[in-house]
Amino acid sequence: MFRFLKMSKLKTLTLMLLLVAVFATTAVNAKAAGHYGYGKAASVEEIAGWDIDIRPDGRGLPVGSGSVEDGEILYEDQCASCHGSFGEGVGRYPVLAGGEGTLTEERPEKTVGSFWAHTSTLFDYIRRAMPFPQPASLSDDETYAITAYVLYLNDLVEDDFVLSLDTWEEVAKLPNNSNFVPDPRPDTQAVRCMKDCKKEVKIVSEPTMTAEEVAAADDTILKAAAGNEKGASVYNGACAVCHNSGVAGAPTLDDKATWKARLALGEATLIKHAIEGFQGDTGMMPPKGGRMDLSDEDVAVAVKFMLAEAE
Ligand code: HEC
Ligand code: HEC
Repeated sequence: MFRFLKMSKLKTLTLMLLLVAVFATTAVNAKAAGHYGYGKAASVEEIAGWDIDIRPDGRGLPVGSGSVEDGEILYEDQCASCHGSFGEGVGRYPVLAGGEGTLTEERPEKTVGSFWAHTSTLFDYIRRAMPFPQPASLSDDETYAITAYVLYLNDLVEDDFVLSLDTWEEVAKLPNNSNFVPDPRPDTQAVRCMKDCKKEVKIVSEPTMTAEEVAAADDTILKAAAGNEKGASVYNGACAVCHNSGVAGAPTLDDKATWKARLALGEATLIKHAIEGFQGDTGMMPPKGGRMDLSDEDVAVAVKFMLAEAE
């Protein structure tokens, strides 16, 4: 503003005209972009630059092709330093091949061949994100060739295979495809309402158990609580975190033999241990389970609840 004042009248006028001109052009452009009054409509080329996703059936694939043979050279050059010449993974870089039949093992090896569902994911991933230091640097033909080569490393195609739109269908589904199933849980099947819709939506949590299962579970808890709802609630709030799962060596309630043995010391001792803390053979029971806000009485009723439950 200060500078404005020091300008000659003519300069000020020119500046203002300029500003008016800028606003006017913006307004014209805004009209072209429509709706929100700013920005500009994206050109077909601009949209194409972003719209590169590929569907499992190959829709969205660019025109082009690439052979296993060409892929081998490119892969050796640009991928093998991290993923290994055979897709075995160097150091801790991801393994791309092998691992068939390991999914049910304790340490499954999830690779393109053993785990992935669709070749479209492979093509898309390589095109967008690899090679790691220079993402999106591969041409379409190069991407086809390297994709073909990774399939070859997984024994899914022969060494004379050429991947293109024409051969896509042969390899569109990867071996583990049938193990990917639509999620059957009811809350994933939302249907969009088109008429007579609810005016207000209330968010509620859907129980994953049926009403009968919930009732049965409630019944068991109530039976165990046997008039000791307070004990059940203290247990759930302060003790279950360890005693439900057995974390840190805490005895679980369904390990009835353990509780029988412990009860040999007498209920009063167990209550004392729960209040004051107890270092036993399996771990450390912290005083009051670490909840010093609980009264001794609270802890006592929780122990009674546990013993009734474990009986
Ligand atoms: C400098 C090391 C490096 C190079 C070179 C490299 N990658 Fe990767 N690659 C990675 C890393 C790291 C990841 C994991 C990225 C992540 O999880 O975000 C990865 C992930 C992948 C995956 C997904 C693996 C999975 O199971 O999730 C594929 C497929 C892949 N790379 C292919 C390639 C191909 C093809 C090339 C060559 C064009 C290549 N990479 C080059 C480091 C590399
Ligand atoms: C941080 C985990 C943890 C929490 C929370 C916890 N416990 Fe424990 N509790 C243990 C462990 C571990 C043991 C087993 C100690 C051993 O015998 O080695 C144990 C043992 C016990 C025992 C048996 C003691 C004995 O003499 O055998 C009782 C009773 C008990 N806990 C009650 C409770 C109650 C009541 C609460 C809640 C107020 C609670 N615990 C919260 C870890 C926990």
